[in-house]
Amino acid sequence: MKPTQSDVNAQDTDSLVGTDFDALVDKALSRRSLLKGGMAAGMLGFFSLSPMAQAVAAAMEPSRLLGFKAIKASTDDAIVLPSGYRSSILMSWGDPVLPGAPEFDHQGGNSAADQALQFGDNTDGMALFHFKRADGSVDPDRAVLAVNNEYCNYEYLLKNGTVESREDVEKAKAAHGNTVVELARDGEGHWRYLRDSKLNRRIHLETEMTLTGPVAGHELVKTAADPSGRKVLGTVNNCANGRTPWGTYLTCEENFQNVFGADRDEDVPADQALYGVKAAEDRYGWWRHDERFNLSRTPNEPNRFGWIVEYDPFDPQSTPMKRTALGRVKHENAELVLNADGHAVVYMGDDERGEHIYRFVSKGKYDPANEAANRALLQDGTLYVAQFNGGEGDKHAGTGRWIELTHGKNGLTVENGFADQATLLVHTRKAAKQVGATSMDRPEWVSANPLNGQVYCTLTNNKNRGKKDDQPLNGPNPRAANHYGQIIRWEAKGGDHTAEEFVWDLYLIAGNPAQHQDAYAGSSNITADNMFNSPDGLGFDKDGRLWILTDGEDSNEGDFAGMGNNQMLCGDPASGEIRRFMVGPTGCEVTGLTFSEDYKTMFVGIQHPTGGFPDYQDGGKPRSSIVMVTREDGGVIGAA
Ligand code: FEO
Ligand code: CA
Ligand code: CA
Repeated sequence: MKPTQSDVNAQDTDSLVGTDFDALVDKALSRRSLLKGGMAAGMLGFFSLSPMAQAVAAAMEPSRLLGFKAIKASTDDAIVLPSGYRSSILMSWGDPVLPGAPEFDHQGGNSAADQALQFGDNTDGMALFHFKRADGSVDPDRAVLAVNNEYCNYEYLLKNGTVESREDVEKAKAAHGNTVVELARDGEGHWRYLRDSKLNRRIHLETEMTLTGPVAGHELVKTAADPSGRKVLGTVNNCANGRTPWGTYLTCEENFQNVFGADRDEDVPADQALYGVKAAEDRYGWWRHDERFNLSRTPNEPNRFGWIVEYDPFDPQSTPMKRTALGRVKHENAELVLNADGHAVVYMGDDERGEHIYRFVSKGKYDPANEAANRALLQDGTLYVAQFNGGEGDKHAGTGRWIELTHGKNGLTVENGFADQATLLVHTRKAAKQVGATSMDRPEWVSANPLNGQVYCTLTNNKNRGKKDDQPLNGPNPRAANHYGQIIRWEAKGGDHTAEEFVWDLYLIAGNPAQHQDAYAGSSNITADNMFNSPDGLGFDKDGRLWILTDGEDSNEGDFAGMGNNQMLCGDPASGEIRRFMVGPTGCEVTGLTFSEDYKTMFVGIQHPTGGFPDYQDGGKPRSSIVMVTREDGGVIGAA
């Protein structure tokens, strides 16, 4: 069976068989009842306007925010949407985007050079940027779309399904990275991408980038090909994304370890272990054909990946900037919030079992009149990692604080192995552990509610929770062998995103109430009608609807029976109500989300489908694709 992206990080998903199940039951039952009401009382002391409290007050009232009829789970090889909605394809892997690009060849005939001119593989995070008119107003019908191409489906990309030559490596390198395309909307309200736009761009493993911030020029990022330690070729495993108020796109490097290897285990620097870089025989094999990825030849190359990259989507000649001040982890997305005092605050998850949630606070402040200064805001600032405390007598609510990751503070000293700030940032995970960051169940996307500033983060699953010494049960991660996931949210003290302290609770705990009556049934807002597993993508719309995208187990059997294919749900933050909005086709992950500025078109990524989606021909290939969702009546997606 085809590995999902979840598998790439998690490798496999435990069943509950063999867990210390009985021991959980007592606590779990009380948890479920706490979430039904008791929790709200507990939370009142923390959140002055506790959404959970509102939930109790509004009990049983249908959501006014969610204006569509929920759909059932599905195992069909098709996009399923509520009545009154329709979908169409914007762009699929291999579609031509640059001048001279050939059409996609379903028989696998496209070369590496062809792929560099076509839409990359495995569409993921994306953001739509509308053009501004001369008077400064938004042009509702013209935009550029910046999209991540996360990784490759080698079984479809390459003739023999695996890397066997330098040409294969080159094709894989060209299929990664980013794609930028211009879009136009016609009088009927349909968007399409423009094949011949001068703004179209492919960014991949050969695109020159600049390292910025404390790590630029450091010994740890110098290589024979780049003795300056400032010029990196390309970006890789671009998972989710962010965007800035100054109009740039943020693309986040996640599972970079997979493209590296070495001739011998002893050639892998010991400090790469925390990132999973190793001399593996069973990975993608780039290192056998391109010495840049062979640690026996180029040991520092992995230090040049795992960053957040910023670029201007309207300037195809611009050089993307790797923002080292934001830390080196397996980045999921980058949620930028402009604090009331003008600091740019970026929230970030590091997706691996037991890893952490981070916050960056810019040194400078946003100035609408100084675009050049804004574009340097992510170059310099302070990185923090989250520590979550359980609540008193209530594991689901509590307090927390941000711990500064600055050299010389909090034990981040030379004696503890941190020579300077650059070394600390290259080894961000090590620094986080040094200061006592809370181990989390694979933090994926973070999104801030535009209406009240509360910040949500998906914790997708973690089979190691409660099983490994460094990942004990804790407040935000309360279930052992957690194969369903949960969503945590927090509120900065005083609404100040630069404050040290925050309060948190769990917005939902995914589960299967048809199979379990304990903690694995999930929180009270999970029912047999809306259940799902492995929340991953996450995003608020302008009205405060919370869109939840899943990347999980889609067998529809056993503990996952009744959940169907991966899907998208919509949550009401105040009432806690969750409704299923969309189900994806066979084998896919639903990931990547953006909207037109009027919120009448939703762009959603369908990654690594395995069936006939969207245009399989005999002997051909399923293709990752961007889907556009609109309403037949032309209304706002999700609204009444
Ligand atoms: Fe690329 Fe953690 O998903
Ligand atoms: Ca995932
Ligand atoms: Ca993800």
